[in-house]
Amino acid sequence: MNLLELDNVCFSYPDGSVGLNGCSLAIQRGTRNALIGANGSGKTTLFQHCNGLLRPQSGRLRYAGAALDYSRGGLRQLRSQVGMVFQNPDHQLFSASVQEDVSFGPINLGLDEATVRRRVSEALYAVGMADCAERAVHNLSFGQKKRVCIAGVLAMQPELLVLDEPMAGLDHRMRTEFLAVLDGLHAQGITLLLATHDIDFAYRWADRIHLMAAGQCAASLDATDLAEKGDALSALGLSLPTVVELHRRLAAQGLLAKRPAPRTHAELLALLDSTNHAKDETCR
Ligand SMILES: Nc1ncnc2c1ncn2[C@@H]1O[C@H](COP(=O)(O)OP(=O)(O)O)[C@@H](O)[C@H]1O
Ligand SMILES: [Mg+2]
Repeated sequence: MNLLELDNVCFSYPDGSVGLNGCSLAIQRGTRNALIGANGSGKTTLFQHCNGLLRPQSGRLRYAGAALDYSRGGLRQLRSQVGMVFQNPDHQLFSASVQEDVSFGPINLGLDEATVRRRVSEALYAVGMADCAERAVHNLSFGQKKRVCIAGVLAMQPELLVLDEPMAGLDHRMRTEFLAVLDGLHAQGITLLLATHDIDFAYRWADRIHLMAAGQCAASLDATDLAEKGDALSALGLSLPTVVELHRRLAAQGLLAKRPAPRTHAELLALLDSTNHAKDETCR
């Protein structure tokens, strides 16, 4: 079932810049979605439509089958269901301490003190920041701030979590840790939508990949089909995932079977190892 749908959404900024130009896209409940596209292709504008920060000038959005309700109450409800993590944590965090910042949303929802406390500690635990509740936000590293932003959104118990370029600015170790956090959220049933430039990451991680270009979603593909449908990427000037590229070359040289296409380097290496192993056996 579709949790979020955009139907032919158009939006231009006051200076005339086109943010979205007839964008249609569907996000299924419980899936991991990556939005891939060059700078300026409309990813952030699309995200700001997902929780009603921006409103389409034409076209429409539906959440859980119903047209978005832009009344005060409707937006309040939508924002408790759709959590947004901005690209720059400094634009999201505004309280002095971690605890205070993560509490802000649940307090605003009007929850009682015990529930707020429980939600805050669960959210901090989920992002691996349980020990940092008392810390001052301004002393945290970039990666830690990013986690606090996610905790703040998680404390609202959203159904859909939207993350704008969450990997940008994280080093390799932080990315790996961050992936574990995302996996944990997905396992809890939270639907995930994130923007990224990194096709290798998108291919490895996502169930579905949406290709953005010039304010439109040019194609939505299952990640498992990406290897077969690489032309959709090339048409937009995007390169294929490295693993797919390597696998294609090795298959063309007869060193590997064309299928299955590996999703990760580890899978590619395992295929090579098993092929070599099979060759060793036949040589004996
Ligand atoms: N606040 C803004 N005012 C004017 N134009 C904007 C604004 N934000 C984005 N745009 C323009 O809208 C288009 C889409 O931008 P954006 O949604 O930020 O793309 P992305 O996130 O994919 O880089 C670009 O042409 C960009 O210059
Ligand atoms: Mg952006």
